[in-house]
Amino acid sequence: MLELSGVSTRYGAITMLRSVSLEVEAGRVACLLGPNGAGKTTLIRTILGIVRPVAGSIRFEGRPIHQLRTHQIVELGIGVVPEGRRVFPKMTVEENLRMGAFVEWAPADLERRREHVFELFPRLAERRRQRAATMSGGEQAMLAVGRALMSRPKLLLLDEPSLGLAPLLVEQLFTMVQTINRSGTTVFLVEQNARKTLEIADHGFLLQKGEVVGRGTAAELAASDLVRHAYLRT
Ligand SMILES: Nc1ncnc2c1ncn2[C@@H]1O[C@H](COP(=O)(O)OP(=O)(O)OP(=O)(O)O)[C@@H](O)[C@H]1O
Ligand SMILES: [Mg+2]
Repeated sequence: MLELSGVSTRYGAITMLRSVSLEVEAGRVACLLGPNGAGKTTLIRTILGIVRPVAGSIRFEGRPIHQLRTHQIVELGIGVVPEGRRVFPKMTVEENLRMGAFVEWAPADLERRREHVFELFPRLAERRRQRAATMSGGEQAMLAVGRALMSRPKLLLLDEPSLGLAPLLVEQLFTMVQTINRSGTTVFLVEQNARKTLEIADHGFLLQKGEVVGRGTAAELAASDLVRHAYLRT
């Protein structure tokens, strides 16, 4: 569904991603593991056309997207839960969800999609008029996922959604990601929580210093020395 081939990016003189090739298969949960500063967020931003690759190609459903603008890429069916969630603090839950909508939707359509998100997250429904800033970290995470789902993406990118959440909420979030995947959405999950991630992922990649240094099925990654030493020491 998504295919990166030889993608390199640069911030000024510094090469950040070095010939990254990876693919996300339709219907699956793929993951990207890697330490702080490895380039994970840069990779997400590159897929979304926020950062432009200096080399390589990115294809979504066979179509090159690396020349497209971000809104065009999103309209093709890619949704994102950005790093840090980025909910709009002064807006209510309903207003935040509206920000996940496209301009051309009719109000009835918007309403239908919002109700669908509320079915998935009853907790958000109870709080629909509450400002995002006053919500708990876990609720804000749900809101960020809900906002990304408003456009019913075929592919959902999540950039460290579990960061800063208490263990129980992390558990719930991962279960939610699984539910979303089972309902037909392909998932590309960026995480540092390797243990949990490899429990729900089908396959994945390990990024270090801007390079893919490992890849395989979740079982292969969990068994690899590289992943075990770097992430699964406990
Ligand atoms: N706009 C920018 N200009 C210059 N350097 C940048 C910019 N954005 C990121 N970087 C640098 O690129 C490197 C990779 O950053 P990135 O945010 O992609 O890492 P990451 O893997 O997402 O890390 P984390 O796990 O901490 O979120 C870092 O060294 C960072 O300082
Ligand atoms: Mg990051």
